[in-house]
Amino acid sequence: MSAETISKNTLEKIASAKSVVFFTGAGMSAESGIPVFRGKDGIWNKLKPEELANFDAFLKNPDLVWEWYNHRKQIIHESVPNKGHFAIAEFEKILPEVTVVTQNIDNLHKRAGSKNIYELHGNIERNFCIKCHTYYNEEIELTDKAPRCKCGGLIRPDVVWFGEYLPQDQFIASENASENCDVFFIVGTSAVVFPAASLIYAAKEKGAYLVEINIESTEASRIMNESLYGRAGDILPKILEEVKNKLA
Ligand code: APR
Repeated sequence: MSAETISKNTLEKIASAKSVVFFTGAGMSAESGIPVFRGKDGIWNKLKPEELANFDAFLKNPDLVWEWYNHRKQIIHESVPNKGHFAIAEFEKILPEVTVVTQNIDNLHKRAGSKNIYELHGNIERNFCIKCHTYYNEEIELTDKAPRCKCGGLIRPDVVWFGEYLPQDQFIASENASENCDVFFIVGTSAVVFPAASLIYAAKEKGAYLVEINIESTEASRIMNESLYGRAGDILPKILEEVKNKLA
């Protein structure tokens, strides 16, 4: 169903919801100029995740991995939240409970004003020493050499690489929110990366009403209550407006 016609039933579900979860992926930040991973213009079509986004690759060539994350950090620092991020932050003000569960490491939900955020894949602004686990954030200089801790250990970005566990506190809290919500939005994710995508099925199993927002259908489209095809930055502000009118 196109963005133009959000069903009355969906609007009713959102307006009367006690708890709403927004599960977001790279497509949420696409309109902010941050490239997505898969699909036509996906990063992983050009670059090898096995060389850049896993621990062994980091140990083998830490400078290459840092050069890549510095490049991404530069893009993220030059980008701003889009209308979709701001609409989600606004929902937090008009609905009883709104939780953002994001796969994105770009901090844009926070910069848009969302408060209740769980980061499943870490955050590019945080870094830590792989030897003594000291954290380094702003003080990390963006050089083309992998930075070292005062203990001599290599410092890595605090993001989840392929083959690594998700931060358990974030995952458990996200699971709890997903299994206890009335409406579960799936925004801008291909829904192919697990265990993050398992939250979609957990929410479904517990009876949540599922709404997908994506420019195209995904692996999870078959279990949605409603799929809205279009850009997140166009659709979310529209839903917000309609829900506000309904609550007025
Ligand atoms: N609005 C809505 N959806 C969009 C938009 C947009 N403007 N632009 C792209 N999309 C959709 C694409 O159609 C695709 O389904 O966003 C999705 C992006 O999917 P991926 O690139 O696979 O990103 P994501 O699902 O977040 O990837 C999951 O994989 O590479 C790892 O750790 C990385 O967190 C990431 C994880």
